[in-house]
Amino acid sequence: MALTEPQKLAPPQHIAIIMDGNGRWAKQRGLPRTAGHAAGAEAFRKIANYCRSLGVKYLTVYAFSTENWKRSADEVAGIMKLLRRYLEEALQDMEKNRVCFRFFGDLTRLSPELQELCAQAESASMDYDVQVNFCLNYGGRDEIVRAARALAAEVAEGKRSADEITEDAFSDYLYSAGVPDPELVIRPSGELRISNFLLWQSAYSEFVFMNVLWPDFSPQDLDAAIEEYHRRNRRFGGT
Ligand code: FPP
Repeated sequence: MALTEPQKLAPPQHIAIIMDGNGRWAKQRGLPRTAGHAAGAEAFRKIANYCRSLGVKYLTVYAFSTENWKRSADEVAGIMKLLRRYLEEALQDMEKNRVCFRFFGDLTRLSPELQELCAQAESASMDYDVQVNFCLNYGGRDEIVRAARALAAEVAEGKRSADEITEDAFSDYLYSAGVPDPELVIRPSGELRISNFLLWQSAYSEFVFMNVLWPDFSPQDLDAAIEEYHRRNRRFGGT
């Protein structure tokens, strides 16, 4: 009798990942940090495909934070080059891969070429299975401050009253407007912090911290994180 595959648990519809550990992965191999980011970009490709095959609807990844500008010019340029290369390729294959893109963050500080690629990727309209949200020059506090500023301006102009600022109204002013909150946030690399990632959106997310470095993160690691998520008892403040 043929053995049947064990049934996989249904994935969350939205998974968010802090792609951490590229630098340490490179250092362990005596390689420059940019080689770690290149390996991290490969891991992202693999995991994005795997998420699509599992039926995950939204995948949000922390690619570059508002604080990452403090890194060396070489490292910043290396990450930007990887993003450019990835988007150039992705634009060719969007239909085939059934993936669409959104960008969370202030893109105006990026090079005009990268901004143009982001605009092209975001404006492509097609049927898709998975939406990838790239957090680029993104900071959770910055996102919240911008939303507060936009709402304050509307109140000052008399377009709405202060009482009309509800959680839903506030969410509409975030980069993530219209995207459901992530049920699961994964941070590989052994660090146990949120690092200014999706501060508003992760209010009730389940966090899974893993000891693997991002370039080594495999589909099996994602399965393990999803299994851990299913073991959690989500109460949303109730009993
Ligand atoms: C954090 O690891 C990682 C980043 C700041 C950059 C993430 C960027 C990529 C994975 C490449 C982007 C391109 C695509 C196509 C996704 P770290 O450098 O802080 O690692 P460390 O803590 O070990 O030093």
